[in-house]
Amino acid sequence: MSDRSTSSAASAASAVSDAQIDEAAALLDAGELVAFPTETVYGLGGDAASPAAVARIYAAKGRPANHPVIVHLAPHGDPQYWAEHLPADAQKLIDAFWPGPLTLILKRAARIPDAVSGGQDSVGLRCPSHPVAQRLLDAFSARRGGHGGVAAPSANRFGHVSPTTAQHVRDEFGGAIHVLDGGACEVGIESTILDLSRGFPALLRPGRVTPREIADVLGVAPRLPDGSDATAPRASGTLKAHYAPSTPLALLPFEALESMLAEASAADTRIALVARVSRAGAWADARNVHFVAAPEDPHVYARELYGLLRALDRADCVRIFVEKLPDTLEWIAVNDRLGRAAAAFEANE
Ligand code: TXA
Ligand code: MG
Repeated sequence: MSDRSTSSAASAASAVSDAQIDEAAALLDAGELVAFPTETVYGLGGDAASPAAVARIYAAKGRPANHPVIVHLAPHGDPQYWAEHLPADAQKLIDAFWPGPLTLILKRAARIPDAVSGGQDSVGLRCPSHPVAQRLLDAFSARRGGHGGVAAPSANRFGHVSPTTAQHVRDEFGGAIHVLDGGACEVGIESTILDLSRGFPALLRPGRVTPREIADVLGVAPRLPDGSDATAPRASGTLKAHYAPSTPLALLPFEALESMLAEASAADTRIALVARVSRAGAWADARNVHFVAAPEDPHVYARELYGLLRALDRADCVRIFVEKLPDTLEWIAVNDRLGRAAAAFEANE
């Protein structure tokens, strides 16, 4: 992560006063919703112990009620309180990656409301590292005798692009939702989700914490999400079409894009092209092409991705062409999100 983004997150975080944190924790305590920054994306939070608060989250997002939400815990929160039990693998991963962008799916404790788990027998737990998230979770948890958890999906309407700034959240919900502004998110895409509820580790959603890092800690590689995992828990971030802009988006290797670009640029419509400068060549300056240089580094690409998709929706283009990144583990998370954005526009899916 660059020093610039780290320090800007830190200064935005310190701009949130203790009074603002208390006010937000009181809202959560009263069953209201609060949007708050995490290191991945902004979350739309509600009291995880309150079925009514969780129902409000679903209603605000327009999300089907059988989709589970992640429970966010304070830095000293107790995952054992929310899980039926904590497998040794879970403890190892918690020690290695919390606080941070890793969500663990565990068998749920009986006290978890059905609304949080989408009726499944598991619960998703995560401890975010963003200082504003930590202060809010600490303040809320203290109001609940140290056992407060905040259920929070990404703070966007269902199927839309996740928000990575407070302004993105306002763009989604207008003034209807209380937002804590902690600056731009450093990671920029949602947490890695690892399922430990079935006796073996299985990656449900790729993110900043990579399968290799997980394998290094567990001594065994997680199963990858290749569609063959028929008993995998349902997760909306794992729907084939998700995270979509409104402008149709096509994702193809650069060679395959070129003929489509030729055709589109000959017509009198403007198209957007997102590709690495190293691949785009003369297309960067071609007629009717709104060229955006894609970051060459996977972490930077992830951080900028959702802001970029939102900006492209305002760029007055009829289509967005995006260069598919190499099929390697370092690009797995970015390719995953771009693939779901593109799938929203593929016929017969
Ligand atoms: O980075 C993140 O994880 C962000 C920030 C706000 O923490 N949250 C986020 O939440 O991405 P959401 O709801 O947009 O995506 C969470 C994913 C969903 O696909 C959900 O279905 C899955 O986690 N999930 C939550 N609990 C689960 C469970 N018990 N079993 C399987 N999947 C679960
Ligand atoms: Mg989401």
